[in-house]
Amino acid sequence: MNSVGVGLLGFGTVGSALVARLRDQGQAIGARTGLDLQTVRVAVRDPAKGRVVDLPDGVVVGDAEAVVDDPEVEVVVELMGGVEPARSLILKALAAGKPVVTANKELLARHGGELFAAAEATGVDLLFEAAVGGGIPMVRPLRESLAGEPVETVLGIVNGTTNYILTRMTEEGSGYAEALAEAQELGFAEADPTADVDGHDAAAKIAILASIAFGVQVTADDVYREGIRAVTPADLREAERSGHVVKLVAAADRVPGPVGTVAVAVRVYPALVPLNHPLASVRDSFNAVFVQGSHVGELMLYGRGAGGDPTASAVLGDLVDAAGNRRLGTAARLGSMRAARIVPVGEHRCEFMIRLLVTDRSGVLASVATAFSDHDVSIRSMLQEEPGDLDVDGTSRIVFISHEAREADVRATLTDIATIDTVINIESVIRLLPESTPLP
Ligand code: NAP
Ligand code: HSE
Repeated sequence: MNSVGVGLLGFGTVGSALVARLRDQGQAIGARTGLDLQTVRVAVRDPAKGRVVDLPDGVVVGDAEAVVDDPEVEVVVELMGGVEPARSLILKALAAGKPVVTANKELLARHGGELFAAAEATGVDLLFEAAVGGGIPMVRPLRESLAGEPVETVLGIVNGTTNYILTRMTEEGSGYAEALAEAQELGFAEADPTADVDGHDAAAKIAILASIAFGVQVTADDVYREGIRAVTPADLREAERSGHVVKLVAAADRVPGPVGTVAVAVRVYPALVPLNHPLASVRDSFNAVFVQGSHVGELMLYGRGAGGDPTASAVLGDLVDAAGNRRLGTAARLGSMRAARIVPVGEHRCEFMIRLLVTDRSGVLASVATAFSDHDVSIRSMLQEEPGDLDVDGTSRIVFISHEAREADVRATLTDIATIDTVINIESVIRLLPESTPLP
């Protein structure tokens, strides 16, 4: 049995679950892998705080650098979160030739290029399966199993909190505030839900997935982002009527361009997902990532995207790999990450659902249709109805679905529509995901 000293940076939700797994499953892991993983040192912010898992006296310390420097620590597991000091500590560990396992999506989505280069330079592992999709293996399948596959699209529901909120709103008719409060009570959503509901968390995750899937450098700042705060019960009603469900979708496409160049369109927004799309059935706090490759066709990975135990499961898988590779004197190769052109949102293409409240009189439709045609946005369907939810005489609601159109053209169309005096309000603009097209 090879004993491997593990140094942990962070002993919170995921760190505690990891230490409990090492305690309970250590023997079984040893029997399978020949590795005896020993938690030798753990760094926390406040060593005086009570912990949910016991460790011998002296193991839990307040000095994170001392954990990285400890000669008994052979593999470093970073579970403290945030950018600093996590970034500096990981760089220090890698420079010392110590493999690192991290679940820190925020850090990787901002400084992944620097960290991966540091790992390549010293030839040690930097593994991060838990950074995207919690317990769902997403990183390794994209990096290893699909290494030879020209991936065209990665589409994900990668934030459990927003998926939970949208599921409650859709299935129980809850309002946004009520569903958010419920998510907070259940511990999915933080007291400050900004990172989840405004799409920052999903943007970090899709930046990481796009980088691996396309072998390019994508950061969180490259991701066009809209959150779910503006989604209304009326959006959900229209979604249901048109055979869709609203999901916060994180998407990355490889866009054709001149030979030798790579362009990537990467975004996070609430979208209408057709009911026959595999992502439509991803409910509650579950996550999934749907991949389309030129040869493999469509595939989907599904499971628990957050929580101490599922996330620690992914960390443990990486830890076993990193410790085993260290014994063999090898490391997983990430491959080179090329620079990519990030396609501006104005050039993105999709179908749109546009809901207008108008004065119900002759000529309204003609004016609106003219705005669409002036910007070359073709209408696929249109539905007019009495706005039963509003007590306003003489008004009508019109719901348009466009054919696939350039985002910039749709925005120009909306600017024109807003100036039409019979248009009372542009109630909602929401993008559609294309139907999935399984291979025959
Ligand atoms: P957490 O519960 O807040 O725990 C963070 C831990 O790090 C705490 O033990 C804290 O110490 C320690 N820490 C923070 N700053 C430190 C510093 N400067 N020096 C030493 N220790 C420090 O966080 P978590 O939920 O376990 O998340 C950990 C990482 O996993 C994050 O990157 C997160 O994004 C990622 N992740 C989490 C989940 C999830 O479901 N929780 C899912 C996927 C990925 P104290 O205990 O003394 O405060
Ligand atoms: N807050 C995230 C979510 C989990 O709701 O999915 C951590 O990435």
